[in-house]
Parts: sequence; C-alpha cells; structure tokens
Amino acid sequence: MSAAPKFKNPRARYNYQGRSVSITGVGAYVPAKVLTNFELAAKVDTNDEWITSRTGIKERRIAAKDEFTSDLAAKAAQRAMKAAGVTGDQIDLIIVATITPDMVFPSTACLVQQKIGALRAAAFDLEAACSGFIYGLEIAQQFIMSRTYDAVLVIGAEKLSSIVDWQDRNTCVLFGDGAGAAVLQNRANSHGLLTAVMGADGSKADLLHMPGGGSRCPATADSVAARLHYLRMEGKETYKHAVQAMVSAATEALRRCDLEISKIKCIIPHQANRRIIDAVGERLGARPDQLFVNLDRYGNTSAASVAIALDEAVSSGRIHRGDLILLVVFGAGLTWGAAVIEW
Ligand code: UT7
Repeated sequence: MSAAPKFKNPRARYNYQGRSVSITGVGAYVPAKVLTNFELAAKVDTNDEWITSRTGIKERRIAAKDEFTSDLAAKAAQRAMKAAGVTGDQIDLIIVATITPDMVFPSTACLVQQKIGALRAAAFDLEAACSGFIYGLEIAQQFIMSRTYDAVLVIGAEKLSSIVDWQDRNTCVLFGDGAGAAVLQNRANSHGLLTAVMGADGSKADLLHMPGGGSRCPATADSVAARLHYLRMEGKETYKHAVQAMVSAATEALRRCDLEISKIKCIIPHQANRRIIDAVGERLGARPDQLFVNLDRYGNTSAASVAIALDEAVSSGRIHRGDLILLVVFGAGLTWGAAVIEW
C-alpha cells in the first residue's frame, strides 16, 4: 500500500482552483430472472443451507440469452443519467469496468456509447475485476480535475453467468449478473471523492482467474473440452486475502482523510460473502448497522457489486447528501481498493 500523505483538508482534493467533482447521479439494473438456491440445488450438488450459511446468498439474477453486458450497462447508465439530469450528448467519457465484455474487442464501452447516444464521448473498458468500479471512479476524478473532461460515466457491469461453470458447485453458487453506474461531473464547491486507494498483487493471479480465451490459451476444441473458458477460484485462499486487503485499504483511506470509522454513515463493501463483510466490519471497528448488504439478493456481481449497492443505498434513503461513505472492494488480480466519498 502506498504511503500517501494525509490531506490537511481532504476537501481540498476535489475543490481546487474552481473545480470540484461530484457524483451527480447513480443508477442500477439487474436482469428480471431470479435463480434461487433451491433452483440451483436441482442442477448441482448443493443446498440452500450450505450456500446461506457459508455465503449469505439466497438468490442471484441471471441475464437472458440475448441480454449482454452492454445491455445491462446501458440500462444502468440511462438510470444514472436520468438521476443526474444529463443527456447522452453531455457525456465526455464512458468507462466500463467488466470482466465479461460482450466480446474481446471492441470494448463494451463503445457498444454502450451507441446504446445511450453519447456520441461525443470517448469510451474504454477497464479490467480490475471486482475492484473495477473504484478504479473507475478514481480515473474519472483525475480526468475531471485535470480539466480534460467535465462529465464522466463510470459503469460496473457483468454477465458472470456466461463464464460460470455450472458443473462446479464451488463457484457456480456465488455469482450473478447486473450493472450499476455513476455520473461524475465538475461542480464548483460540491461533494465528491475525498480519497481513493487502489492496489494490486499480480503474484497471486492464479487464485481467481479464467485460463482460456486470451492470447495464452485461445479457444480450441481441446481448451473447451478441458473447461478452460470458465472462471476458477481457490476459495479459501482468496477469502483470507480478501479480508486482509479490504481492511488495510479501508484503514489507509480513512487515515488519509483523518477520519475515524465511527464518522462513516454507511460502509459499502464488495458483496462476495457475508462472512467476509462481517469480518472486515469487525476488524475496522464498525457497528453492524454501518454495513450495507444486498448480496442475499444478487450474489457476487464483481465490478457491478458496489455500484448496485451504492444505488440501492441512495434510493432506499440509507445515504443522504453530506453523509460520509466508505466503499471497499477486492477481486481477481489480485486487486483491491477503498474510497471515501462525501455524498
Ligand atoms: O469476488 C472476488 C473475491 N471472492 C471472494 O472473496 C470469495 C472468497 N471465498 C469464499 O467466499 C469462500 O471460500 C467460499 C464461499 C467460496 C467457500 O467457503 P469455505 O468455507 O471456504 O468452504 P470450502 O471451499 O473450504 O469448502 C468446504 C466444504 C468442502 O467439502 P469438504 O471437502 O469439507 O468435504 C466443499 O466441497 O464445502 C463443500 N462445498 C459445498 N457444499 C455444498 C463447496 N461448495 C459447496 C456447495 N454446496 N456449493
């Protein structure tokens, strides 16, 4: 973790020389189809009791065959733009964080650009797995503060059902599909990101990965037969790193802002496992009521996870303007991150 200095006045970071960055709108979209633990237990050797007690997940959403990551992303984006009161032509840049792009190329962000009519916008994808949304927020903030752009759309979107091995009970019970989005804009003297911590450790890339489909292992009849085009995870090892990395990223983010955890109104952790969320909350010294949890309904939606949760926290009235919130994430790479936002 980089030892960045504490900010004397954290607000100075996004309130500088007449510019400041505000999240002016959020939105989310999940597919209509619900897949419950009971339905899963009819397909693979598992049961509701195991999934609930080990993960906290009760059900997840599954995209239709003809519904792709760009469709989920575009719907979430349209809701965020409506909440922000902006139209497509006002967006300067679209960043889509995803590990399940519609295709290897072109980017899903380019496909979203067409669907939402943001024809002036530059567009690219960002691959930081479950940490992608925080990476995206920080990149958006940098572009706005550097006066390159005034309005950036950050989307976390996944169709994980397309890379889950439905014969592997160790992983198939964990993941779901969905998308969340945020519009970040230049707004003088407003609210925004106080800090974002980002980290990575490529030495542990094998803990959570998809071996097939890239330049190392292009699709062949053999690679498909060997089930290399599905995600693989060493659950226990990943779990340990998740707790450590999330605690240390959150601690560093709070330290930089000179904030105690008690000052945070709502903690929005990556929704991978209820036990991970509780362990992180406990080690940070947070009260259980500070933690936002919705993984019982969506499972782990990777880059979409905290974006969907942020939208739900706002629309359900858990967060109000002026509240301090903490996002904290962890994912394949390994990657991790934490962000403190004055909402
Ligand atoms: O989003 C990116 C980050 N991802 C994460 O952070 C996920 C981190 N890992 C986890 O959340 C947990 O490790 C899991 C939920 C994946 C697994 O929980 P666990 O407590 O670590 O279980 P385990 O993998 O050690 O498996 C315990 C037992 C095994 O049986 P034996 O060997 O003890 O007889 C598994 O075969 O549970 C068995 N098992 C299952 N049983 C019923 C594994 N999956 C299932 C299942 N249903 N779906």
